[in-house]
Amino acid sequence: MKHKNMSYPDSIEYLAKQAGLNPESGIIKDSNYVENNYASLRNIMIEANKFYTSMLKQSEGIKKYLDKRQVNRDMWKKFELGFAGSQSNELYLHLKKIGYTVDIPKNIQELKEKLLEGNSEEYSSDANVVHRTPVDDYVSQSRWLGEVEDIWGVAPGKIDTDGDSIYVQGLTLGNVFIGVQPAFGFEGDPMRLLLEKGHAPTHSFCNFYKYLRDNFKADVLLHYGTHGALEFMPGKQVGLSEKCWPDRLIDDLPNFYLYASNNPSEGTLAKRRIGATLISYMTPPVCEAGLYKGLEELHALLDSFYNDVQNNRVEKFEENSQNALIKMIFDKAKQLDLVEEDIDHTVMSTSALFDEMGRLRSKLVEYQQTLIPNGLHIVGGMKSKSEIIDILSAFSKNWIESNITLRDMNLSEEILNFIQGNRVSMVSNILRNDTLKTILDGIKDEKFEKIQVEETEKVTIISQLSLLAELLVRTKDLIAEDSELVGISKALQGEFIEPAAGGDLLKNPDVLPTGRNIHGFDPFRMPSAFATIEGARQADQILQKAVSDSGSLPETIAVVLWGTDNLKTEGSPIGQVLHLMGAKPRFDSYGRLAGASLIDLKKLGRPRIDVMVTLSGIFRDLLPLQIKTIAEAAFLAASADEPPKENFIRAHALEDCKKYNCDLKTAALRVFGNSEGTYGANVNHLIENSCWEDEEEIANVYSKRKGFAYGVDGKPVRNELVLENVLQRIDIAYQNLDSVEVGITTIDTYFDTLGGLSRAVKKAKGKLNQSKVSASEDLPVYIADNTQGKGSIRGISEQVALETRTRALNPKWYEGMLSHGCEGVRQIEAQLTHTLGWSATTGQVQPWVYQQMTETFILDEEMRERISELNPQACSRVVNRLLEATKRKYWNPSEKVISSLEQVSQDLEDKLEGVTEGVST
Ligand code: BEZ
Ligand code: MG
Repeated sequence: MKHKNMSYPDSIEYLAKQAGLNPESGIIKDSNYVENNYASLRNIMIEANKFYTSMLKQSEGIKKYLDKRQVNRDMWKKFELGFAGSQSNELYLHLKKIGYTVDIPKNIQELKEKLLEGNSEEYSSDANVVHRTPVDDYVSQSRWLGEVEDIWGVAPGKIDTDGDSIYVQGLTLGNVFIGVQPAFGFEGDPMRLLLEKGHAPTHSFCNFYKYLRDNFKADVLLHYGTHGALEFMPGKQVGLSEKCWPDRLIDDLPNFYLYASNNPSEGTLAKRRIGATLISYMTPPVCEAGLYKGLEELHALLDSFYNDVQNNRVEKFEENSQNALIKMIFDKAKQLDLVEEDIDHTVMSTSALFDEMGRLRSKLVEYQQTLIPNGLHIVGGMKSKSEIIDILSAFSKNWIESNITLRDMNLSEEILNFIQGNRVSMVSNILRNDTLKTILDGIKDEKFEKIQVEETEKVTIISQLSLLAELLVRTKDLIAEDSELVGISKALQGEFIEPAAGGDLLKNPDVLPTGRNIHGFDPFRMPSAFATIEGARQADQILQKAVSDSGSLPETIAVVLWGTDNLKTEGSPIGQVLHLMGAKPRFDSYGRLAGASLIDLKKLGRPRIDVMVTLSGIFRDLLPLQIKTIAEAAFLAASADEPPKENFIRAHALEDCKKYNCDLKTAALRVFGNSEGTYGANVNHLIENSCWEDEEEIANVYSKRKGFAYGVDGKPVRNELVLENVLQRIDIAYQNLDSVEVGITTIDTYFDTLGGLSRAVKKAKGKLNQSKVSASEDLPVYIADNTQGKGSIRGISEQVALETRTRALNPKWYEGMLSHGCEGVRQIEAQLTHTLGWSATTGQVQPWVYQQMTETFILDEEMRERISELNPQACSRVVNRLLEATKRKYWNPSEKVISSLEQVSQDLEDKLEGVTEGVST
């Protein structure tokens, strides 16, 4: 309990005094004082927090003692500094420290109020208005007025304006301006979402960047937060010219972009299209989801059941006590929506009963072990010890599970458990700060004699574990480095930002240290030999799943390809597509990708599957060679003189040549995407703004945007007929999950691409009465989760259920989010909106998802109060989204629930409008 022989509060004072400070005096609230003493203050926080964490670990008694003296982690708050807290001012403090004139708000709450509220009521704007550009000034200085007016009407248009001026929203803090980037402008206007080719930014968007340069006179711009709007504006994909919007708007402003280290594909797009230098930031640590509430109770009941089995007590189910336990298990499972109907176990056979128990148990294990992000990352924030444990544990577990050397050895379960046990102790030794030498010696001295292992196996295991130990020690040190703020300082001072590979920390520790300029890959080497083998294995897994679900081999599969999942895996998804078609990449004598070649049918051992590929705009930009390779594979297969029964691509292409009287090249078009210079299917905007009546509109928006076919020459041509024809044939659709941190309900782009595609297939099939799958039947849509180990394939319904249970409904996840205040509520809202996106596009979300979200966040009064306090706008969107789900019949709750939701919706609306008890304020 002593730190340098002092009790905890005394030790803080000691550290503070050593730094020449008096923490009780309140003087630290003065921003000049903070500026002058920044480094000392920060060290105090670090020391104090480390000490507190280590004491907590010692015993329950100490915890009680500290609680009694009201000593807790919040001690640091008295310094009014954002250390280790969830809501942090770290960046602004840092800017001040390195010489910028920044008026630092007292705390995050104040920053939020000034930025998001400020004078917004006066101008009916979304955020504080810092500047109003007179329309006359805008018109006289605008260089592309005509082009903008063609799309958005006569200046100032309708967005961010009072008719006389155009608003610039944000906040000026000394020499730092925090700007709110204007929206795309699609909002509320479904017709614009149908624009298949380019458009133009809004007047407000153009004015915003002009303000930064000409009025605020920024020396440098720091874009924040991954996936903004500027870099997605129309224009060329590479080598942008004076006709391209991103280039026009950014002009010659030095542009830095704080970017998620796990998103190299969108990151490189920002480099290419807006001349950004990226400064990477770490993704939040991941942890196992664990079990909670009812899931935990079910787990305990199942444990009792299996205990009884072990003790041979479950031989006669007729016995009452057994009956009661089994009934409790099924009742609980029903209550949790893990079984669909009431189950009468008394009429079940023993084997069916054990199957069902086994199924429930594996579901719980899956939920428990699923990795979820723990809160959000703070640039410049320090990771706690438990977060570091989470990161190292997840990394090492995955490293072993996907280690090819170990996998190829076909080790026994006993040896694999031994290896996993070893890595667990290795992680704790590393956290104890053991030296690498001690750890490596420890591995050699492990009790190998306790397991059955051959000498050669032992040597390999030791060498692999030693490699892992080195990686873990290095990773732990790098996580602790304050490299992101250093990266920002370097950028602002015009120094060199080092390059780094982008990727998932879980798979690639070389993304550390963050704070570096991420890059992608070598386009000539993709797919790599490894990705070709892995892709083939993963493709077989997809086929197995499809056969086991439907009973027959699918003839046509639709695959969504993104840039990120390929960049992070050296192109495994491309490998999957080629393998499904029975093709492989072809390389020239320099080892550069040159096209595709066919695998002999005998060697393939099954028919060539017809594959339709839909590309994200980012894939199209990054991987033109690979587009040609896939298109070539399809054309080669269509041209191969093989029996149609063994080559579905040829069978279908020949049919179409006859039917439409077209050439084989046209009939073999299988790669689809956006037109040049545009991105996304726009289905996400349609859903987010609720501006659609029936699901067919979603299909139309999707087909308009993604209906361009890419042939062997790699040039996109609009081809409705081929598109519709291919869509009609699709038996299953799937997409690879890109990372552990980001689920299909975390962002809006999965349902935009895969969801939009599913809806378009459904519409196309509806037109074709004699289709194999009837229009009313749901298209099987899968997520291939290859983010860890050997991977697993889940249906949409299953994947949404998994994410809902492990994230949205899981206190571990939502508490982590809510500790970040208003942003946390926004994340909960986003999760729900994206879930509705899946209902709208696939119809495959189970109704309990909405019911349980309602119970957790709205019907629970305490929670509702909490989230509406933290972020009333997002809370109101949650309620309205739930009501939207009932109106669209994705969920059919009781009248009582509907009227509660309606009441809450009304109350929140009043609150947002500032109405209390019928009196306008
Ligand atoms: C891509 O890498 O292709 C991608 C990334 C995020 C959203 C959509 C596409
Ligand atoms: Mg978005």
